Amino acid sequence: MGHRAGAVEGLDVSSTWTDAFRDKRVLITGHTGFKGSWLAIWLHRLGARVTGYALPPPTRPSLFEVARVRELLERHVEADVRDAACLEHELGQARPRFVLHLAAQPLVPEGYRNPRDTFETNVMGTVNVLEAVRRVGPRPCTVVVVTSDKCYEVAPSGCDPAPPGLRESDRLGGSEPYSASKAAAEIVAAAYRRSYFDPQHLHEHQVALVTVRAGNVIGGGDWSPTRIVPDVVRAAAAGRPVELRMPHAVRPWQHVLDPLAGYLTLAARLVDEWPDDPRSAHSGAWNFGPPTESCVTVGALVEQLHRALGRGATADSPDPSIRETATLTLCSDKARSLLGWRPRWPLDETIRRTADWYCRYYDQPGADMRQACMDDIAAYEAAEPRP
Ligand SMILES: NC(=O)c1ccc[n+]([C@@H]2O[C@H](COP(=O)([O-])OP(=O)(O)OC[C@H]3O[C@@H](n4cnc5c(N)ncnc54)[C@H](O)[C@@H]3O)[C@@H](O)[C@H]2O)c1
Repeated sequence: MGHRAGAVEGLDVSSTWTDAFRDKRVLITGHTGFKGSWLAIWLHRLGARVTGYALPPPTRPSLFEVARVRELLERHVEADVRDAACLEHELGQARPRFVLHLAAQPLVPEGYRNPRDTFETNVMGTVNVLEAVRRVGPRPCTVVVVTSDKCYEVAPSGCDPAPPGLRESDRLGGSEPYSASKAAAEIVAAAYRRSYFDPQHLHEHQVALVTVRAGNVIGGGDWSPTRIVPDVVRAAAAGRPVELRMPHAVRPWQHVLDPLAGYLTLAARLVDEWPDDPRSAHSGAWNFGPPTESCVTVGALVEQLHRALGRGATADSPDPSIRETATLTLCSDKARSLLGWRPRWPLDETIRRTADWYCRYYDQPGADMRQACMDDIAAYEAAEPRP
């Protein structure tokens, strides 16, 4: 099923990148979601033995279902990250070499509607994951906590820092519940790193802990409510215009495989240098954002997406109750210089591949959508990193 690491050709990374995951136990939280499903497919392709821990898929349809991700897992656990005892039990069973924590309430509008659930899932969920790692240890474990570009303090009016954008050392903040919950998850992880997983004492606790911040990811298989690509796809499929809440907001668009490649490269690097460099420069927080030219307005993205889909129309429908930051760009110089990570697909190709994936799903009933993901992953691996 799928193909294994030995067949991964054209991947412009050292062999340790692929070797790092072959036959390794990996726990993904949030594997039933959009990013988690892509990650599970990719890790399986790299030869990892993946356990997933998450609530049932958050949407219908879902990438998890249509790509039959469950078949790729060594173990599939449907459970809540707020259930600390269950999480600790499952982590103890899985004995993962890598933990990739993606489970979250990931939507800004839902954060406004349900701030308590958002904070509980995103903040206490992160505490529970790190606490489970601490309590089942000490054993070698690399933990990647996925937060967001929205964890930074940015004026709601949209005063972005000068290019190249927000850096890892910039102030954390968050002007609404979702963003604040992700900033809080960053602070939780930093406290665990200082208190229990200090890189200087790696030999004792054996845990390398990093946080990763990416931009607005797009790609096939996202059906989340209130996200622009799924909104466009749903509207186009139904033959009605898509309503744009913030057509002039600039966002850092990137294909989902770009940040996932960053997370995997980083996780592999942490193992690579283990245990020679306990004061690793690789510990801490990391941005994996797109280049500045991929930061365009929602309106511009939608226009290109409609062209690539060959259908669709827009209707502006601003929602004054939702106050999102107007402009957000990330500086990823740290990942570029220390990891050699680079985005691979320009925005037009990112949009075209996203549109192609959805066209395959909607226009070819019964199409093998796991294969569609594998085709994208293979093309991504073969693509040249961009300058
Ligand atoms: N998609 C983006 O543009 C984007 C951008 C920046 C950061 N992120 C972050 O990436 C991660 C994944 O996002 P996504 O887009 O795949 O979201 P998604 O909604 O598709 O998936 C979320 C996953 O978390 C799980 N989950 C939610 N609440 C849970 C709970 N209480 N217990 C256990 N599992 C729970 C869901 O079941 C699902 O598997 C999130 O942490 C999100 O904040 C996403």
